[in-house]
Amino acid sequence: MSERTLILSAVCRRFVQGDAALEVLSGANLTVRAGEIVALVGPSGSGKSTLLQIAGLLERPDEGEVSICGRACGSLGDTERTRLRRESLGFVYQHHHLLPEFSALENVVLPQMIARQNRGAAISRACALLDRLGLAARRGHRPGQLSGGEQQRVAIARALANEPMLLLADEPTGNLDPATADAVFAELLDLVRAHGLAALIATHNPDLAARMDRRVALRSGVLVEV
Ligand SMILES: Nc1ncnc2c1ncn2[C@@H]1O[C@H](COP(=O)(O)OP(=O)(O)OP(=O)(O)O)[C@@H](O)[C@H]1O
Ligand SMILES: [Mg+2]
Repeated sequence: MSERTLILSAVCRRFVQGDAALEVLSGANLTVRAGEIVALVGPSGSGKSTLLQIAGLLERPDEGEVSICGRACGSLGDTERTRLRRESLGFVYQHHHLLPEFSALENVVLPQMIARQNRGAAISRACALLDRLGLAARRGHRPGQLSGGEQQRVAIARALANEPMLLLADEPTGNLDPATADAVFAELLDLVRAHGLAALIATHNPDLAARMDRRVALRSGVLVEV
């Protein structure tokens, strides 16, 4: 497939603190096609999270453009960006950010309700995702009653709940022990491949990066293929 799901064009991002300006992204370019899984690597502080926040429409670049599923996002207002995020993007963070008061099932149903999915369909999709991730017996548990690996699996199910075209993940297994990280990561890749999604996944782990289709590294604010 050649559909270009995510395009970053000459993205710049600067942070100003007091008199000092820090240019974290200095013209970053990237294309992620449908069905392609790309590892985002680079040392701590190189700007991986900043880049993912911009690609995920959570922040705006100072210069440059982000296109998602063929739509240029720079000129879109906040309402349109929120809608595009809800309909086309799934995001998984290093820490799960699940809602603590709600069960695993409800955490996966809620984003679908916000997207005006019918409740019955939302519940069956949530169950299918949780079952696929080995959590059939944990649906009623709250995040605090789940292990770290189980919490991250719920976060993955939640990210995929609205059938996004693009999955963005910021060190999604960074908080897990190596064996659990390995298992959860394999399940994440399986699901992304099974749904034919485009994915951009930041990781510090070279073994995990090696399992993706392609690797790009942030170096001095630009992306290079490695
Ligand atoms: N809101 C902000 N204000 C000021 N500086 C920021 C802000 N967000 C990020 N930075 C700076 O931008 C740089 C890149 O940060 P970022 O979190 O994107 O790096 P990273 O590659 O994700 O690092 P890590 O691997 O440790 O997660 C850092 O020097 C950071 O201090
Ligand atoms: Mg980071």
